[in-house]
Amino acid sequence: MTDRTAPLHVVVLAAGKGTRMRSRLPKVLQPLGGRPLIAHVLERARGLEPRSVTVVVGHQAERVIQTTDADDLRFVEQVEQKGTGHAVSLALAAQDPADRVLVLYGDVPLIPEADLAACLAGEARLVVLGAEIPDPAGYGRLIEHPPGHLERIVEERDADAATRRIRRINTGILCAVAGDLQRWLAAGESEAARRQGEWYLTDVVAAARAEGLPVALVLSSRPEAVLGVNDRAQLAQQERQYQHARAQNCLREGLMLADPARFDLRGELSFGQDCLIDVNVVMEGRVRLGEGVRIGPGCRLRDVTVGDDAVIDAYSLLESCEIGPNCQVGPFARLRPGARLEAGARVGNFVEMKNATLGPGAKANHLTYLGDATVGARTNIGAGTITCNYDGANKHQTRIGVGAFIGSNSSLVAPVVVGDDATIGAGTVLTRDAPPGKLTLTRSPQETRPDWERPRKTAHPTKD
Ligand code: UD1
Ligand code: MG
Repeated sequence: MTDRTAPLHVVVLAAGKGTRMRSRLPKVLQPLGGRPLIAHVLERARGLEPRSVTVVVGHQAERVIQTTDADDLRFVEQVEQKGTGHAVSLALAAQDPADRVLVLYGDVPLIPEADLAACLAGEARLVVLGAEIPDPAGYGRLIEHPPGHLERIVEERDADAATRRIRRINTGILCAVAGDLQRWLAAGESEAARRQGEWYLTDVVAAARAEGLPVALVLSSRPEAVLGVNDRAQLAQQERQYQHARAQNCLREGLMLADPARFDLRGELSFGQDCLIDVNVVMEGRVRLGEGVRIGPGCRLRDVTVGDDAVIDAYSLLESCEIGPNCQVGPFARLRPGARLEAGARVGNFVEMKNATLGPGAKANHLTYLGDATVGARTNIGAGTITCNYDGANKHQTRIGVGAFIGSNSSLVAPVVVGDDATIGAGTVLTRDAPPGKLTLTRSPQETRPDWERPRKTAHPTKD
């Protein structure tokens, strides 16, 4: 029987290339819910509060280490990927033989916590997490004898037709005492050498049984969640599952999603009561919504804070910006990093903002670019206003006071200051500061030419 009080160590296998993915990115770094597959596995591993977590890296090791690096991880390099058995044996090289080891696969990202707890609670010397699934193609099949006790695992490529019909599959996750695993793996190594093939971790089952030891099988509580990600179809499938679970969780916590199947959360979301998210909204990074926030269809929000009762209308893109309470944004607005809307400010269609603040109640309702600018309270920015913040080499600031009115189609050539309550005439190219309370404009005089006539089409001589 396994000593369940022995310290627990987790080994995560992440050395493979993921050939079936057909990607430049190593498989364990492929994104699921906006995070690399392996980040999900490591989160689960850490949740168990183990004594150590060892990650076996190989293909593009540097990149995997860089992406996952943290003080609590130990990396072991598997220079040549000779198989999952080889990978685990490398990870166990320095392991105290009396400690317990849980093996997780870097390409099985969504393991339910309950399944891991069930494995760790198992009493047999070796516990394997299996799953019963309708389409077992590609997975190692579980051979039970007697039922509930594993006799061996047969990989798909080694299975005959009868074995391929077995619907109980190996998830890859297993738990045993390190000393046992090391011994069983050594037996598997000679088996692999005999076969002149890959060194399978799964051969530890037959090795344990050969010693007359029972091998327990734990069946997953959510079989669809423990499937491996080997190709893009499986990645897309797992993404849907993950998004479904997150959407259900949001609904339970009081977020209204117009259609939970058309909502993608690729980061962290917090929200107050009565928020309403229309279809096809994508949230990334850290998004915080106050109460009563409404988000129209097709919006993307990345690292955004939105105040109470604000409305983000359809097809708006917001990144690293802050929206105050009661603001209105969009439709078709683009708020880039450093955009800030104070209470009640409004930004309408085809307005782009970057490093710019709109004061309380200020409006830029149409077709405007505000970059490196501050706009005071209640100021109205007319359609087509552009802050010319870039001289080709450097960026400059535009400062507009409170209660100002910028006429349509004005170019504010920064650095420039518009005083409080100033009015800028339509079409102005402002190159010097505009004083407060006055009308400033640049405009060529309008003229009408009384003698002018429209050109007429000249008659072409006809050919004879
Ligand atoms: C493996 C199992 C199979 C199981 C399936 C579940 C073996 C032999 N087969 O097959 O029984 O049904 O997972 O998803 O274990 N890796 C290394 N070093 C290597 C080879 C692989 O670290 O030399 C890592 C990979 O990066 C991956 C994991 O181990 O994260 C599994 O490898 P993969 O090639 O995906 O194995 P499967 O064919 O899926
Ligand atoms: Mg796999």
